Amino acid sequence: MPLGHGTLDLREDPDGTLSVAVTRQDTYPVIIGPGELDNLPGLLGRLGLTESAFVITDTDVADLLLQRTLDMLGADGIRAEPIIIPAGEASKSWPVQQSVIEALLSRGVKRRSVLVALGGGVVVDSVGFVASVVMRGLPYINVPTSLVAQLDAAIGGKTGIDHNGAKNLLGGFYHPAAVLVDPELLRTLPPREIRGGLAEAVKVGILHPPLFGKLEKLDQGPPHDIDALTAITRDAATYKMHLLKDDPFERSLVRLLNLGHSFGHALEAATGFEVYRHGEAIAVGLALATVMSRHRGLCDAATQDRILACLTHCGLHVALPASRTAATWAEIDVIRRVRNGVLHEVLPVSIGECVVVDEVAHEEFTAAADALAALARTLPPRATAGQR
Ligand SMILES: NC(=O)c1ccc[n+]([C@@H]2O[C@H](COP(=O)([O-])OP(=O)(O)OC[C@H]3O[C@@H](n4cnc5c(N)ncnc54)[C@H](O)[C@@H]3O)[C@@H](O)[C@H]2O)c1
Ligand SMILES: [Zn+2]
Repeated sequence: MPLGHGTLDLREDPDGTLSVAVTRQDTYPVIIGPGELDNLPGLLGRLGLTESAFVITDTDVADLLLQRTLDMLGADGIRAEPIIIPAGEASKSWPVQQSVIEALLSRGVKRRSVLVALGGGVVVDSVGFVASVVMRGLPYINVPTSLVAQLDAAIGGKTGIDHNGAKNLLGGFYHPAAVLVDPELLRTLPPREIRGGLAEAVKVGILHPPLFGKLEKLDQGPPHDIDALTAITRDAATYKMHLLKDDPFERSLVRLLNLGHSFGHALEAATGFEVYRHGEAIAVGLALATVMSRHRGLCDAATQDRILACLTHCGLHVALPASRTAATWAEIDVIRRVRNGVLHEVLPVSIGECVVVDEVAHEEFTAAADALAALARTLPPRATAGQR
């Protein structure tokens, strides 16, 4: 079925009220494989999106991949123009995206034009947003180039930009016409960005044992083991979609995919979003949730040790520095207030099982942070994924 296929049913109730029932169905391929970027022109051809393309990317990715992408589309007779935004989260803003929209309009974008999002999570989130608002919805293709974007951001149809200091405040659900994941593109991704992506993969792995096993075995030898990263991306993306089956619009606030995220977000906020990359903070959040679960007797020592070891194996720090405990707790309180006084924390029970608990006490949080600091000292030295 084509993208945005839908039906509308109209019913007149006995009291004269007209009831409208609208359904929308989006069907699209998610293609994952090394070298797949070369198949972008063919994919656009199959989707009937060859009239004109706008390749939107950021300054870092432009240097690496833009010319190749434009040449490839041009060679297939697809007229393609570039739009480049500055690299970094600051581009997920209304002023930058307004300039993208104005560039599209001044260069004659049409309803049959396709936007190609070539970049990390910042590019795919913001291109999805722009695609959803221009001419009531343009088709767009996600070509994610960072690990976070390949295994998470490019999948699920969530679009968004930041506003007034609030992350992803503007945006909605608007699915791409296709997702093309080429793990070969990760070869140039800095190791710190790889580690951030691996933290999100560990989160999914705690829910999905086959993925967890792959992460534990991730080769510590050559930089960027593309075959292993391909398998990890495929597992994580597939399992994310599996979890979204019953809640594709993420209406439930109690979601397993939030594992590690309340604590992780609180740490990011407590450090002004400048010290930790998102994935690095999530790694600490996952470790805190694990130790807390152990303290509650929900998970055994072996599960706790496996999760902490896997995070460390992926090159991630797990300890919450003592100097940050109080500020992180203060931010947890902010999150609790935003959620009407209930925290809903997800805690691991075993690899493959988590539970949602309603509340976390201050003393419990501090005890977990202290215990984690002691445990972290006993873990093997941190590997540096992608640089080993
Ligand atoms: N929509 C969702 O479901 C979802 C899920 C997770 C994250 N996100 C969003 O994604 C964003 C984070 O994504 P990110 O971590 O990819 O950040 P990012 O897009 O800023 O990319 C990180 C850095 O890596 C560079 N880069 C990307 N690909 C590269 C490559 N192949 N080689 C070299 N450098 C490359 C980028 O230019 C950037 O400098 C956040 O805004 C977050 O909110 C969204
Ligand atoms: Zn995350």
